[in-house]
Amino acid sequence: MSNTRVFRVWRGDAEGGDFSEYKVEVNEGEVVLDIVHRIQATEAPDLAVRWNCKAGKCGSCSAEINGMPKLMCMTRMSTFEEDQEITLTPLRTFPVERDLVCDVSFNYEKARQMPAFAPPEGLEPGEYRMQQVDVERSQEFRKCIECFLCQTTCHVIRDHEENKEAFSGPRLFIRAAELDMHPLDAEDNRGSHAQDEQGLGYCNITKCCTDVCPEGIKITDNAIIPMKERVAGDRYDPLVWLGRKIFRR
Ligand code: SF4
Ligand code: F3S
Ligand code: FES
Repeated sequence: MSNTRVFRVWRGDAEGGDFSEYKVEVNEGEVVLDIVHRIQATEAPDLAVRWNCKAGKCGSCSAEINGMPKLMCMTRMSTFEEDQEITLTPLRTFPVERDLVCDVSFNYEKARQMPAFAPPEGLEPGEYRMQQVDVERSQEFRKCIECFLCQTTCHVIRDHEENKEAFSGPRLFIRAAELDMHPLDAEDNRGSHAQDEQGLGYCNITKCCTDVCPEGIKITDNAIIPMKERVAGDRYDPLVWLGRKIFRR
């Protein structure tokens, strides 16, 4: 069974742009990315879009669908009303390159600024050993597909370009939490680094990042809040403070 839907797709580049309207055939079982491909095949072969796997695993096809950050390949057309217009725009938080493609290098720059995994001295790759329970503890965070939907959603940078320098964003907070939980990571100040260098304090726990994560990672509850609690414990717990004073003498 097929019908026709109106798609309003933002077309333009860094200089500016506008919406173009397409009336497109939609068939049962299709996802938004199928429709974008049909638009390319019929009316707009030059429409720029980024995608790779069409299986929700590469994280490339992120866009804003009726204002909601989503993966186009995982958004079924059946989730919309029969006569509902669909609006497609590029991720709002990052600079547009062309049409639905934006420049997400902000995220890679922030990743480069993080101290890498630091194994204990003397251990060679292949000699690392850890308990299964430790592997499982951070498994959730390793499901991240780097779609950056959490990053584009977070209000700290979504509406505040000026915060980008000081704020790394939820994707990098889960990376910090993952390393913080790693029993072989010899870098012992992940929390302080998150607080002082990654802008953890800017997060006011709105949980919007968690709401949009296609992997269902509990970014706020399982990564950000525990990190904040550890930082608060380290810095403001009087016993920890006293211990530091005594042992640093
Ligand atoms: Fe995407 Fe979730 Fe990873 Fe954020 S944490 S980049 S929303 S998979
Ligand atoms: Fe932003 Fe997520 Fe915190 S949306 S404010 S990083 S809870
Ligand atoms: Fe790979 Fe959508 S095309 S996640």
